[in-house]
Amino acid sequence: MPTVIAVLRETVPGEQRVALVPEVVQKLVQGGAEVRIQHEAGRSAFYPDAQYEKAGAKILPDAAGVVQGAQLVLRVQPPSLEEAAALAPGTIVVGFFYPSRNLPLVAALRDGRVTSFALELVPRITRAQSMDALSSQATAGGYMAAILGAANCPKFLPMLTTAAGTIRPALVLVLGAGVAGLMAIATAKRLGAVVEAYDVRRAAGEQVRSLGAKFLELEINAEGQGGYARELTPEEKVKEQAMVGAAVARADVVITTANVPGRKAPRLVSKETVATMRPGSVIVDLAAESGGNCELTKPGQTIVEQGITILGPTNLPAQVPFHSSQMFAKNLQSFLTLLLDKTGALVSDFSDEILVASALTQAGQVKHGPTREALQGARA
Ligand SMILES: NC(=O)c1ccc[n+]([C@@H]2O[C@H](COP(=O)([O-])OP(=O)(O)OC[C@H]3O[C@@H](n4cnc5c(N)ncnc54)[C@H](O)[C@@H]3O)[C@@H](O)[C@H]2O)c1
Repeated sequence: MPTVIAVLRETVPGEQRVALVPEVVQKLVQGGAEVRIQHEAGRSAFYPDAQYEKAGAKILPDAAGVVQGAQLVLRVQPPSLEEAAALAPGTIVVGFFYPSRNLPLVAALRDGRVTSFALELVPRITRAQSMDALSSQATAGGYMAAILGAANCPKFLPMLTTAAGTIRPALVLVLGAGVAGLMAIATAKRLGAVVEAYDVRRAAGEQVRSLGAKFLELEINAEGQGGYARELTPEEKVKEQAMVGAAVARADVVITTANVPGRKAPRLVSKETVATMRPGSVIVDLAAESGGNCELTKPGQTIVEQGITILGPTNLPAQVPFHSSQMFAKNLQSFLTLLLDKTGALVSDFSDEILVASALTQAGQVKHGPTREALQGARA
């Protein structure tokens, strides 16, 4: 019996991505799976039903029919509580779950005996690089952040020498030079801006410089576990504020991407610092959803404060849905090599370290320790 894989139309408002694209469907069908796609699941990412059909998928009109009898459900965003309730015990769901913000959902998946693998828990080891959806989607987010910064800036980004005079290039400052930040730097450079960047991890300096940007050095190296940053001490934060404050004041566009896993985003731009910026300057705060790197950021909104535009986008990858879906689907294709054998049948052994690390719920239990503890704490 082939494994039945289901892809639903995403239901979170503003979500335009789709979990599988036709190219990946074709590979899965060739590998022996049956793929069912909900009618118009790929529409907002510009993958029409006809392309999925050509790739060998079955198109079904409604979500209930798509998931009925499916062993594997692939999604971008976590299911709603109603969608989770419609999943039969033993169904495997793969996608993003953001468990710390979705404890009732995790409890529902646990109690419904649904097996869930969270892509954000895939370990960042070399073998899992092709499954790293956090990175692929951060790449899309970083690109869009630079584009939004340019589009909201009243200046040209490049230097121009024209008959109507010479235009000086704009200065773009990128705070946080991880995956999204590096992509924002590369994109702003391609648009012709002069780019400066800062990160608490000293290792980021080399990557920033290799993109042709200036790295702002602070006498701190806050590289923590697994290549991620650690939280700064209060003294380090004071030094950081002074250096970042001066850099923000001279920038035309500030793109902030700083995050510390499992914590509120570090506050890098205070409202006093915003007040030192030139009118017309722009801040794009990619950390809006995790609390914001700028004190004035409002998640999901654009505000103008004393002539400074502050954008707090919450789902930038959804604004480049064609390619972010393509990358996401490739990540899933790679992840599925752990769940499907060479004949396309589901494996019964989930002991691969990547599966162990990314398992959120399984057999009526919450497998991810921090989420289990958070649920216990919520009950206490
Ligand atoms: N497979 C892999 O090995 C793999 C895959 C992806 C990323 N990585 C590495 O993981 C690291 C970060 O990844 P990410 O982009 O997902 O991280 P992230 O989204 O958690 O954070 C973004 C950036 O913010 C920085 N940051 C945190 N606090 C800061 C502060 N106070 N001021 C300035 N910057 C601050 C972090 O150092 C990081 O570079 C990078 O080293 C990246 O190369 C490894």
